[in-house]
Amino acid sequence: MRSLPEPWRVKVVEKIVLLPREERERLLVEGGFNLFKVPSEGVFIDLFTDSGTSAMSDWQWAGLMQGDEAYAGARNFFHLQDSIRDVFGFPHFLPVHQGRVAENLLFSTLVKPGMIVPSNNHFDTTRANIEVNGGIALDLVIAEGRNPAADHPFKGNMDLDRLRHLFEESRGSVPLCMLTLTNNSGGGQPVSLANVKAVAALCRDFAVPFYIDACRFAENAWFIKQREAGQGDRSVAEIVRDVFSYADGCTMSAKKDGLANIGGFLASRDEGLLELLKQRLIVIEGFPTYGGLAGRDLEAVARGLREVLDESYLQFRVGQVAAFGAKLTALGIPIMQPTGGHAVYIDAKRLLPHIRPLEFPAQALSVALYREGGVRGVEIGTVMFGHTDPQTGEEIPAPMELIRLAIPRRVFTNSHLDYVADVLEHIRDHRDELRGFRMTVVPKVLRHFTCSFAELPPPAAYAASSASVAVSRW
Ligand code: F0G
Repeated sequence: MRSLPEPWRVKVVEKIVLLPREERERLLVEGGFNLFKVPSEGVFIDLFTDSGTSAMSDWQWAGLMQGDEAYAGARNFFHLQDSIRDVFGFPHFLPVHQGRVAENLLFSTLVKPGMIVPSNNHFDTTRANIEVNGGIALDLVIAEGRNPAADHPFKGNMDLDRLRHLFEESRGSVPLCMLTLTNNSGGGQPVSLANVKAVAALCRDFAVPFYIDACRFAENAWFIKQREAGQGDRSVAEIVRDVFSYADGCTMSAKKDGLANIGGFLASRDEGLLELLKQRLIVIEGFPTYGGLAGRDLEAVARGLREVLDESYLQFRVGQVAAFGAKLTALGIPIMQPTGGHAVYIDAKRLLPHIRPLEFPAQALSVALYREGGVRGVEIGTVMFGHTDPQTGEEIPAPMELIRLAIPRRVFTNSHLDYVADVLEHIRDHRDELRGFRMTVVPKVLRHFTCSFAELPPPAAYAASSASVAVSRW
């Protein structure tokens, strides 16, 4: 049986261009070899993120025309309210323009200095919003979730023993517990329904509010349907309702499974808390019936949340990522196993053992992907997470050297991903020629966004036999 093809046909197209190699080289040099500084129009296949990059459906675009741009009480707010009630079962919510504002509202009110917020893995913005309020963001994912090679159906699960231990040791200083579905920082790995229930039960025992980071809730529910005993006959819509029935609320970036280009919300069963946060929302985002969004954007989210439950879409979506991962594995490109819901993570440490961690192997691979094929992925290694030891001044590399190829929803066909696999095959064949990097501009905060690099001379073995020159086929 062939796998299911794209369950949509194309109504509008957007031109993408593979610039000549010299042009790509020029953009790399001008951007200091930092792909955040390469303009989008210089990129052929952009796999930087799955956030805000979805293609909307004809139904969503039709909804945009029905945007009610009233300052207060726009009809689209009520449509979104209906969707959130039907899909998640939450009666109350505040719209926001993207996920991190929901985090800001929640943590700025609940987290006090020294408090600890556990999660399986906090996403960067979640962690930052906890830390700016003086809190500690603690990752308690199961041991398998920290090992890229380990095979486990629910690598995003929370370690329940460690969570119980934390609750026992830190009574009164855990203001809430989070769970990220799917676990983005851990490779887009799912969390089982059993784990959600167990985390909720522990939270109830210790009177800790339980919130879900719901960005990729539909992909997570699809994994539950596929992999969890007794769940195969239930619809994804039923599973989603079940999962969220155990939570006190959720933060949501609708730029992922909302299938929208912008938007988000904070939902809660605690009406009193939302009343309090409403005042802050008015100061930082806007009136509580639009929360920083145009009426038309509220409508796109209201429709996207329903549309994402379509099981033929989810089957294709998660299947496309899995097939891409399997193709790379067959080519001998080491990836994080098993593939998650939204991205494939390549292990650059294993692909490029000749580049030392402090010479940024994952950065070398991302530059090669762009240089050879106009493909953009994101470095998740020593550029992003390496740091200088404040005591010794020594440079400490990150534990892993990954590059994330995130697949936007409904944007690229399988033949686009076949092309990316071809580029990687070419890189694999020439991997000894890849060179490490030195950071020439080192910003103090979130350095990966704005740093610059210089390319190091070729590795000694390659320089000695310098006859061959890397020639791109594209
Ligand atoms: N939580 C998770 C799990 C996320 O992946 C993101 C965003 C956010 C919260 C914040 O949402 O961007 O709407 O404010 N992740 C994007 C990514 C940026 O590329 O993975 P936001």
